Amino acid sequence: KKNIYTLAIESSCDDTSAAILCNDKVLSNIVARQAIHEEYGGVVPELASRAHQQNIVPVVDVALKKANVTKNDLNCIAFTQGPGLMGSLLVGGSFAKSMSMALQIPLIAVNHMKAHILAHFIDEENFDKPTFPFLALTISGGHTQIVQVNSFFDLKIIGETTDDAVGEAFDKSAKILGLPYPGGPLIDKYAQEGNPKAFRFTKPKVDGLDFSFSGLKTQILYFIQKNQAVNPNFIEENRNDICASIQHTIINILIDKLKLAVQQTGIKQIAIGGGVSANSGIRKTLKETESKWGWKTYIPKFEYTTDNAAMIGIVGYYNYLENNFDTNDIVSKARIEF
Ligand code: KG4
Ligand code: ZN
Repeated sequence: KKNIYTLAIESSCDDTSAAILCNDKVLSNIVARQAIHEEYGGVVPELASRAHQQNIVPVVDVALKKANVTKNDLNCIAFTQGPGLMGSLLVGGSFAKSMSMALQIPLIAVNHMKAHILAHFIDEENFDKPTFPFLALTISGGHTQIVQVNSFFDLKIIGETTDDAVGEAFDKSAKILGLPYPGGPLIDKYAQEGNPKAFRFTKPKVDGLDFSFSGLKTQILYFIQKNQAVNPNFIEENRNDICASIQHTIINILIDKLKLAVQQTGIKQIAIGGGVSANSGIRKTLKETESKWGWKTYIPKFEYTTDNAAMIGIVGYYNYLENNFDTNDIVSKARIEF
């Protein structure tokens, strides 16, 4: 059987990434992060697309070199069609189209959210692949979803956020605490030294498997304002406990919904993905469910949890095997049906 070489491009938000896969193995996965947004406390779309345009050619070059693969070895090109920032998506999409035309190889458009889930099928030593059907919890700065995954091509959203994403809940809470963007990893860091039960925040009441996080952010804002008014050093003196309590509340919300999803579907295999799955508290709590409730949980390699092109490549590869190709008139989409 001949080896399939895939070039994958991811440019949906503020990371420019290119990866080379040989079948389901990753040969290179290059991510150029855009530091520029830190100054603004969030991603500035206009700046993101400009940076993608500067980064895309060198990032692809490095990915090819590191994989020791030439353009002429490539069998297909996969790229992120959406969802994401339009200006960012267009850079990766246009690049992928040009390259597929020049090399006369198939083009494969990939849904970013599906890719976060199917990243679990990248062949990596010491990482098990989930078996179908399983439940995926996709938690990132842009999305919060529970997806029932029946096969590579049959994925169904059974729950999602009605407002903010989990990552936003982390980042906005961090901003209230005066922490720089993106604050999620910092909350995680301080939480490790704090008492998760020091402060109580109420969980939102949302029906079924859907989520809501905007109320939590408001609750935290009022809580901080009230306490700072009494003690101007409140944040400084309680940073670890505040972070641990916020993180604890968010984890509880996620676990509650997963429990309900397991109950409703009878599926006890849980795979997590998206940038927030890097959170050490979430990882620990999920692992504990294995002995507690007999769940089997899958946590991907760190490199594949945040935005990266390797996850786009694995979806590209499985589509290639099925001859699922796209034509050159395909358009990028900021919002995309699953
Ligand atoms: O998947 P991702 O890299 O980009 C999106 O598609 O959104 O996710 C980024 C999000 C940010 O909100 C960031 O704060 C959050 O993931 N994040 C974390 C941690 N690491 C990244 N949140 C909590 N704990 C972490 N350790
Ligand atoms: Zn993402």
